[in-house]
Amino acid sequence: MASLGQVIFWSIISIIIILAGAIAFIIGFGISGRHSITVTTLTSAGNIGEDGILSCTFEPDIKLADIVIQWLKEGVMGLVHEFKEGKDVLSNQDKMFRGRTAVFSDQVIVGNASLRLKNVQLTDAGTYKCYIITSKGKGNANLEYKTGAFSIPEVNVDYNASSESLRCEAPRWFPQPTVVWASQVDQGANFSDVSNTSFELNSENVTMKVVSVLYNVTINNTYSCMIENDIAKATGDIKVTDSEIKRRSHLQLLNSKASLCVSAYSAIDWVLLPLCFYLMLK
Ligand SMILES: *[C@@H]1O[C@H](CO)[C@@H](O)[C@H](O)[C@H]1NC(C)=O
Ligand SMILES: *[C@@H]1O[C@H](CO)[C@@H](O)[C@H](O)[C@H]1NC(C)=O
Ligand SMILES: *[C@@H]1O[C@H](CO)[C@@H](O)[C@H](O)[C@H]1NC(C)=O
Ligand SMILES: *[C@@H]1O[C@H](CO)[C@@H](O)[C@H](O)[C@H]1NC(C)=O
Ligand SMILES: *[C@@H]1O[C@H](CO)[C@@H](O)[C@H](O)[C@H]1NC(C)=O
Ligand SMILES: *[C@@H]1O[C@H](CO)[C@@H](O)[C@H](O)[C@H]1NC(C)=O
Ligand SMILES: *[C@@H]1O[C@H](CO)[C@@H](O)[C@H](O)[C@H]1NC(C)=O
Repeated sequence: MASLGQVIFWSIISIIIILAGAIAFIIGFGISGRHSITVTTLTSAGNIGEDGILSCTFEPDIKLADIVIQWLKEGVMGLVHEFKEGKDVLSNQDKMFRGRTAVFSDQVIVGNASLRLKNVQLTDAGTYKCYIITSKGKGNANLEYKTGAFSIPEVNVDYNASSESLRCEAPRWFPQPTVVWASQVDQGANFSDVSNTSFELNSENVTMKVVSVLYNVTINNTYSCMIENDIAKATGDIKVTDSEIKRRSHLQLLNSKASLCVSAYSAIDWVLLPLCFYLMLK
């Protein structure tokens, strides 16, 4: 059993350590302020076969010639992209990214280091680093890039079926999504017994076409076909009335996340640095 004296002694020691840490932290920021800049990345997903953007911003600097942007990828030897002295420098670029990358060179001066990635591949998924040097200092932030396929569904009346049916079709998804139907009139109803969903591999053998048929639908009701995997969620709504068919659809990327990293380098950089704040942007 610890005596009261010991408890007080260790409490005081703990408080002193915490205070010392806090002071060192504040001083660390003061000293290192000149040498570090804020770099912010925004995580989003890439759609296979399309062009993607790896988003990164930094504290702007009017001296363009002093700005260096380096994009790196974990597990890849060469650079993903490098921009310095106002232009692209691709001599150290990894061949995996040859001819597929670009920064928005007219946006660099306003602190936009985002990278455009052409023809996104499944293998482009991974951890990227946006590393920036300006005349004010340097900083970096990581970005988790997910790749997959997602597309907006189209819902139509299926005139071929024997009963009144709706047909929901989306051309490209990966990984295989879940498909759930819902109706405005029967909220919470489970339509799994009156629907049939199939996945058909597209010719490139990665993405799949999603088709779901909902049987025995009623007029004047709004039905939603919801397709979701771990990177995106899409919905197609349809309402069939006596005189018209109304449709609406939308697509949302899941887990968009901004990562704000303040990296500070100083004599006492053992103190809680670098600091990263993660903001959920949902
Ligand atoms: C950077 O510039 C590009 C091209 O104008 C733009 O699409 C992108 O949204 C910008 N990124 C940020 C974070 O402002
Ligand atoms: C409906 O049937 C017609 C003729 O049998 C066929 O050509 C068409 O592809 C079918 N449509 C769907 C959506 O199955
Ligand atoms: C709907 O019912 C099926 C079985 O008929 C079940 O497997 C599924 O989990 C249910 N879905 C929901 C959202 O309750
Ligand atoms: C649709 O409704 C009809 C008549 O109520 C029924 O016979 C049929 O089994 C239903 N179809 C499905 C897929 O539930
Ligand atoms: C679902 O669709 C597939 C292919 O269109 C068909 O072979 C299967 O019989 C259908 N299942 C049900 C329960 O309707
Ligand atoms: C897709 O897979 C099939 C069978 O496995 C194969 O014959 C075909 O060449 C593949 N296509 C591509 C583009 O890889
Ligand atoms: C659908 O709604 C319209 C107008 O709201 C109404 O005139 C019509 O009778 C309804 N049809 C059915 C089958 O309920």
